[in-house]
Formats: sequence, C-alpha cells, structure tokens
Amino acid sequence: MSVPLFDTSTPLAPLRGEIDAKLAEVIDGSRFILGPEVEAFEDELAAYLGARHAIGVANGTDALTLALRALGVGPGDEVVVPSFTFYASAEAVPPTGARPVFCDVDPETFCVTADTVRAALTPRTKAVIVVHLFGNVAPVAEIEALGVPVLEDAAQAAGSRASEGRPGSLGAAATFSFFPSKNLGAFGDGGAVVTSDDEVAERVRMLRFHGSRDKQTFDLVGYNSRLDELQAGILRVQLPHLDTWADGRRRSAAHYRDEGLGELVDLPLPVNGCEPAWHLYVIRHERADELAAALKAAGIGHKAYYRVPTHLQPAMRDYAPAGELPGTTEAARTHLAIPMSPVLSREQAAEVVAAVRDAGLGRPH
Ligand SMILES: Cc1ncc(COP(=O)(O)O)c(C=O)c1O
Repeated sequence: MSVPLFDTSTPLAPLRGEIDAKLAEVIDGSRFILGPEVEAFEDELAAYLGARHAIGVANGTDALTLALRALGVGPGDEVVVPSFTFYASAEAVPPTGARPVFCDVDPETFCVTADTVRAALTPRTKAVIVVHLFGNVAPVAEIEALGVPVLEDAAQAAGSRASEGRPGSLGAAATFSFFPSKNLGAFGDGGAVVTSDDEVAERVRMLRFHGSRDKQTFDLVGYNSRLDELQAGILRVQLPHLDTWADGRRRSAAHYRDEGLGELVDLPLPVNGCEPAWHLYVIRHERADELAAALKAAGIGHKAYYRVPTHLQPAMRDYAPAGELPGTTEAARTHLAIPMSPVLSREQAAEVVAAVRDAGLGRPH
C-alpha cells in the first residue's frame, strides 16, 4: 500500500456541494474583488483566531511584506528571521527596504527561541519574524519580552493552539497563506494579515489597495494585493471544519507515536506544551537521504523541504550571517517530511513506520 505525502482531496470531498453553491452565488452576484465574501471571511477568521482584524491579501508572501511595512519597517532597519523556513519568510523583507538578519532554530522544534533571536538583535532591529514552522508554535511571548515587535509567520499553523491563544493572535501582527496545500487552503493563491492593532490594520488595508483609503487619494506607494471573492467564499466554507481537520492531524501524529516511530527517528517536539496542527510531519534522522531512498522504494511519500537553508540561497548572499547557525545546519541536513493529513489512518501510519523500520538505518542518534 502506498501512502501519499498529503491528502487534500479526501477532507474536501464532503464539502464539494457547498463549495459549488458558493461559487455559483459569487458568480451570480458579479462582485469579484473586495466584496461581501472577503468582508465576511475577514470577520470570521479574526473571530476564530481571537484577533480584532483580519485583512485578506493575495498570498502569504505579500502578507509578510505588507505587515512589515504596516509595522513601520523600512530602509535602514533590520528584521530578524529564521533561516530554516520556506524562503518567502526572508524574501518578504528586502522589498520593505530593510535587511533580513538570519537567526538560528532549535532543531528539536524547528522554531526560533528567545536565545536564538537574542543573538541576532542589534540596535537597528525593528521587528522579528517568528515562523510557526510545520504547525509548531514558536514562543512569541518570550521573544516579545526581548523588547521587539513580533510578526508571526503563521502560514503553516492554521488550527494550531498554544496556552496563550492561537497562532495569529500572539504577536503584534501575523500572516497566513492559503496556498492550496495549507491546513486552510484556497483553490489558488490567497493570504491574510491578522492584528489587533487598529492602526496596523488600517495601514494594511491601504497598502493592499495601492496605498489608498478611498480609491481617490493615494497616500502611500502600495500594492495590488487582494484576496478575491471566489477564494474567500471557498475559505468560508472550509473555516468551520479547520478544527476538526486539525484534530485529525494531531490524531495522525498520535498514530505514528503509537506505532513506535519514536524508537526509529527523532519526532518533532511541540514547543512548551502547545498543540500543533501538524501542517507537515517532519522527523529527523542522521541518514535522512538514505531513509528517503528507502521510503521511495516502499511507495511512501516524503520530502526534504529545506535541505539548503535560506541564508545559503544565492539570492540571500548579501545577507549572510557572520556566525554559524548550528541548529539550522542540523535541521536542514537531517529533516524529512513523512505523510500527514487530517485523514491519515492508523493502518497508513503503520505502513509508514514499517517502511522506516525496514530501512534498517538504526536509531536516530
Ligand atoms: C512559512 C511560510 N511563509 C510564507 C509562505 C508564503 O506563502 P505564499 O505561498 O502564499 O506566498 C509559505 C508558503 O508558501 C510558508 O510556508
């Protein structure tokens, strides 16, 4: 039995009729940009997250750039960002005029810590981008205690929970991506900025529409970056199911534990007792590439997402950190995503664990 890396279609199948009806409703209404679906989705997302404002934008990368600008980041500033993340987390910084300054992660959680952020702070630091990588929840309060505003990159953490609240409501602002494979995915590109700060929200609303409040006067050089009505309608149908899907992801992770995966590889560690809605289930092993080859032979989906960390990417050469990032180096070398979805069954988990065991690569360390 082969097991796919993820399964977005099975959870969506029961919603197909409702989605089709929503698409017809939007098309019949002939409003496609910044209309009632976007407005309603923004309200529903903000309420779900426990924040005052959500602002729909074109994608998660724009969301980061707009949020940084709305937080006052600009030329001459530095923004601390982890290197072990999807490239866009750092790519969003230079368009603001600021420099990304790379910090390390804890390889056990794949997230930044107060210590790794502190090591990257300078008097020019204007904000820290904290990535809730793979659905884990980085320790936002501990990082805010360092005295810098935190922008949460929550692209991979829809449905996760921490004791202080949901990712998206923990920092000065947060961003989401609704890329189709995300925990809450559109049928195309989409994103949002979330904040409880009225002024930041107002600036993001202006920035997404060419820097204008009223479409007559243009106060800022902004962007054309909007979530569209069809995507918002699709996301509205899905949002009420996000927690059930997140529970399914946590159940899938439990299946792996129950099948004994932790004896064979290092399992991802939730930060401070948070409850991740594992967007990706990423294990670590010293011989990750050999494990990948064995999984491939057994028909098990897998992927090394960030083998080359962001600070070593060619486009980031001007921002190379002065020192080493040992946690990043280890995570980049040893990580491997294995199948994860809201509907991964115990039998599928057993199949994956058997394939890992049959690879015969020994204990993780
Ligand atoms: C951590 C992270 N940040 C940012 C992004 C960018 O989002 P988008 O692809 O919607 O621009 C993604 C996903 O693609 C992501 O995983």
